[in-house]
Amino acid sequence: MDHFLYRDGALFAEDVAISEIAAAVGTPFYVYSTATLLRHFRAFDEALEGMDHLVCYAMKANSNQAVLRTLAQAGAGMDVVSGGEYRRARAAGVPGDRIVFSGVGKTRDEIRLALEGGIRQFNVESEPEMAILDAVAQELRVVAPITVRVNPDVDAKTHAKIATGKSENKFGIPIARARDVYNMAADMPGLDVIGIDVHIGSQLTDLAPYEQAYQKVAELTEVLRADGHTITRLDLGGGLGIPYERSNVDPPLPSDYGALVKRTLGHLGCEIEIEPGRLIAGNAGLMVSEVIYVKSGEGRDFLILDGAMNDLIRPAMYEAHHDIIPVIEPAPGIEPQPIDIVGPVCESGDTFAKQRPMPPLAAGDLVAFRSAGAYGAVMSSEYNSRPLIPEVLVKDDQFAVIRPRPTFDEMINRDTIPAWL
Ligand code: LLP
Repeated sequence: MDHFLYRDGALFAEDVAISEIAAAVGTPFYVYSTATLLRHFRAFDEALEGMDHLVCYAMKANSNQAVLRTLAQAGAGMDVVSGGEYRRARAAGVPGDRIVFSGVGKTRDEIRLALEGGIRQFNVESEPEMAILDAVAQELRVVAPITVRVNPDVDAKTHAKIATGKSENKFGIPIARARDVYNMAADMPGLDVIGIDVHIGSQLTDLAPYEQAYQKVAELTEVLRADGHTITRLDLGGGLGIPYERSNVDPPLPSDYGALVKRTLGHLGCEIEIEPGRLIAGNAGLMVSEVIYVKSGEGRDFLILDGAMNDLIRPAMYEAHHDIIPVIEPAPGIEPQPIDIVGPVCESGDTFAKQRPMPPLAAGDLVAFRSAGAYGAVMSSEYNSRPLIPEVLVKDDQFAVIRPRPTFDEMINRDTIPAWL
């Protein structure tokens, strides 16, 4: 459930009319709902009730500091994957001991930054990375808490570009090699091995792959303990999917997922961490765009919007579906007609939807892309020299711009022309 509903025929974000925000900031823009963010965070927190746990929001999904602070104030930790994300989380007020550092290619500088600034744990992804982490920790005369990310070779049954738990993927250490790697880690004085990490992919709509992966983690926990390692923390990754298409069957709920975690891992007495991103932020955001033209083509019509693939890349990149709804609710009985919904960028890939049934719309009308709060603004670019679009946060009847639209001068003046030109 989210907090974007029609009231008297007009779309609202909580208690603020979308048209009011559009008038204030111009289109296109992203808008996020505080109540929806918090509702989704709490759904996970409650799903793990009864187990020692921390929900570490995967901030790659939406890393605006206002979003981070909203979640951190509710008790969330953060999952970061770069020095930039670490700095951003700290700038938003998240303490180091609530930040976990994931990612396949942490550099020396990033490791140093987190060790000096404070970190809950590193999720180590390879032997060479482990050696560097050990070396940097020893240089700094500290001990780095680590889990090792294992690759359980499980098919997450999701889009190939976002599956991470198969042996052919670049992520983690093959689970068959885990015992050797834990023995290596135990001999490194700069490291303190505390647990196991696993993340098998994103937008999972079925719990079965989780079940397989977590059973393997449970077995590995017992094996490693028998080898003499102290395993007290299990980081279970993120990945639970959201219903992008409201007409489809809904994916499992955080409560179903929590029950699975308890069933497969509860007997081990470990502290549980999870790293959800999409399920917290996805349905907490809309991208709002204005119709520029309605164009008749050969056998099909096009709705040309002022938003484009540079603002929301998911349809072009993953063939992803986003529901697109008019900001003014269509009158009852209006028959939707199929239309192609496109942006103004100069490539055919800049298509949001083909032959999507829509009510009649005209230039100047507003539409909202649903489920755009995760992997929307963070993946945007200035392709075609289109400035990044603003982000707005709503809380009850208030709204605030949480990232302004840069001016054309700000965008253009970032280039510098060499002296020889
Ligand atoms: N933990 C790790 C180690 C991850 O790599 C990811 C996502 C997450 C947690 C969070 O997964 P989530 O709960 O959000 O599914 N840009 C793509 C999604 C990429 C996901 C990358 N890793 C998209 O727009 O669908």
